[in-house]
Amino acid sequence: MTEYMTMTADAPISRSTAIKLYDAAGFEGMRKAGRLAAEILDALVPHVAPGVTTGELDDIVRRMTLDGGGVPATLGYRGYTHSCCISLNNVICHGIPGDQKLKDGDILNIDVTPLVDGWHGDTSRMYIVGETSIKARRLIEVTYECLMLGIEEARPGNHIGDIGHAIQKHAEKHRYGVVRDFCGHGLGRVFHDSPEVVHVGRPGTGPELRPGMFFTIEPMINIGKPGVKMMEDGWTAVTRDRTLSAQFEHSIGITETGCEIFTKSLVGLDAPPY
Ligand code: MF3
Ligand code: CO
Ligand code: CO
Repeated sequence: MTEYMTMTADAPISRSTAIKLYDAAGFEGMRKAGRLAAEILDALVPHVAPGVTTGELDDIVRRMTLDGGGVPATLGYRGYTHSCCISLNNVICHGIPGDQKLKDGDILNIDVTPLVDGWHGDTSRMYIVGETSIKARRLIEVTYECLMLGIEEARPGNHIGDIGHAIQKHAEKHRYGVVRDFCGHGLGRVFHDSPEVVHVGRPGTGPELRPGMFFTIEPMINIGKPGVKMMEDGWTAVTRDRTLSAQFEHSIGITETGCEIFTKSLVGLDAPPY
């Protein structure tokens, strides 16, 4: 049985197995955090170019987050010391920014989570450095479609499994592998909360969606098999078979009739080509 928990102004700010149901103030808070997150990803577009290091992009994210009145939620999170994650080519997620220079043909995911007035706006997009292969472009396109097909299932009365099913069906139609080891997650005043949003599944299974639920959908799709390998740094997850991987992430809130996407680009830069 899924437990739910109505969030009032004085409710605890802690992780719980119960799924939190937020009110209008929660939607307002998430709108602000989500807008800043989207603006940061918009602003990165002209900076993604050959010769730029991922550390330089991280500096831009940190400065923009602070200038926007937020704090990067990843900074100091479980020992992580950067303002975003940057995952290149065969890196699935949690790539650590550093000295690596971007080069023509690279594809990368940039994942930001500004914490604004206590609310988390978590979103990521793919970027292309110069020109890349048709197969990389196709992977990016289908991964974005997977995210949006998942979001289409996000409405009251549907279940978490409906979201996973829509994503898995579309990805596997293209013979791609859906990563199982990392999931979407509840969020709000807590960064990673219940429910777990698995990106595969069967219709009608898992927790039922109710108005006021906030969570991310963030499918990671590999050209090859779903298998993951962890690097020595303890963060960087790469494809076991070294194939390319792509990911997009939005933070959403379930409404009475469907859902609201908190992290949509207001200038139409949700997916390449930008
Ligand atoms: N933003 C990531 C997510 O989508 C989490 C990054 S946690 C970090 O959930 F510590 F790796 F930065
Ligand atoms: Co997330
Ligand atoms: Co994220």
